Amino acid sequence: MKNFQNKTELSNYISALKAKGSSIGFVPTMGALHKGHLSLVNKGLSENDLVVVSIFVNPTQFDNKDDLVKYPRTLDADIALLKTVSNHKIITYAPSVEDIYDDNIASESFFYDGLEHKMEGAFRQGHFDGVGTIVKRLFEIVKPDFAYFGEKDFQQLQIIRKLVELHHIPVTIVGCPIHRAKDGLAMSSRNARLTPEHREIAPFIYKTLEAAKAKFGTKSAKEVTEWVYMQFEKQSLLELEYFIIADITTLKPVKRKSTKKSYRAFIAVYAGDIRLIDNIALN
Ligand code: PAJ
Repeated sequence: MKNFQNKTELSNYISALKAKGSSIGFVPTMGALHKGHLSLVNKGLSENDLVVVSIFVNPTQFDNKDDLVKYPRTLDADIALLKTVSNHKIITYAPSVEDIYDDNIASESFFYDGLEHKMEGAFRQGHFDGVGTIVKRLFEIVKPDFAYFGEKDFQQLQIIRKLVELHHIPVTIVGCPIHRAKDGLAMSSRNARLTPEHREIAPFIYKTLEAAKAKFGTKSAKEVTEWVYMQFEKQSLLELEYFIIADITTLKPVKRKSTKKSYRAFIAVYAGDIRLIDNIALN
């Protein structure tokens, strides 16, 4: 497996592969890889000759210093895990902060047609400027044909689609389904930091989403939302930050349901100081 830390070396290597006609898939990650990430890598491998996996804890997308400092960094284990998937068709890129930002660790400002003001954008200041900054730079370095993003971060997926459209970046964005643990908890690098007590209760989040989906068949979005808030009030270990039912394209909260539109329910919850997000398709 080829492992790069330097963007110029990676770019040159990929250019030579593309000149030979290889198609390049790309899976950007922040590492601490788990089966959710691997599902994206496998999808990429099934559709491309090679898959580049970037592993970079991007400082500009963290609004919480403590979260950035405590974010798990497990590069050796990540590379070992990727080798179990494929030794020859995966290339890793694990740059230093300097390789990406030189000495200016700052975000550019992005406009995503209003998608940036909702949910994660509203609760994590500057988050999507940081995501746009890193993903755009990574696209420039890797120049992939296809890039794979998880529906786990559905708002991020829609924002990346908008970024590519507005900046005319020649890459096809592929959305991939949420990979869950057996008990329903959406896999996340942050799950490793949950206390045993919080890990045990965390599947409550997905159970509540499933119940909300069932209720959405007969009840209004407002009624379902109130019901979800009530469930979390009864639950002392998890703190609900938001539950929103929104249109999947505009991400605007639904006022009156329309059979012509598709909706998802989005949730953010604190388990102690660990912030977990999840979502579910409703129709
Ligand atoms: P990270 O949280 O490491 O996630 C990398 C990719 O894996 C994202 O597209 C995310 O949606 C996907 N993913 C994570 N957990 C998943 C799961 N349980 N099922 C399916 N896909 C899952 O998202 C980021 O990193 C960063 O914001 C990044 C895009 C790399 C920019 O820094």
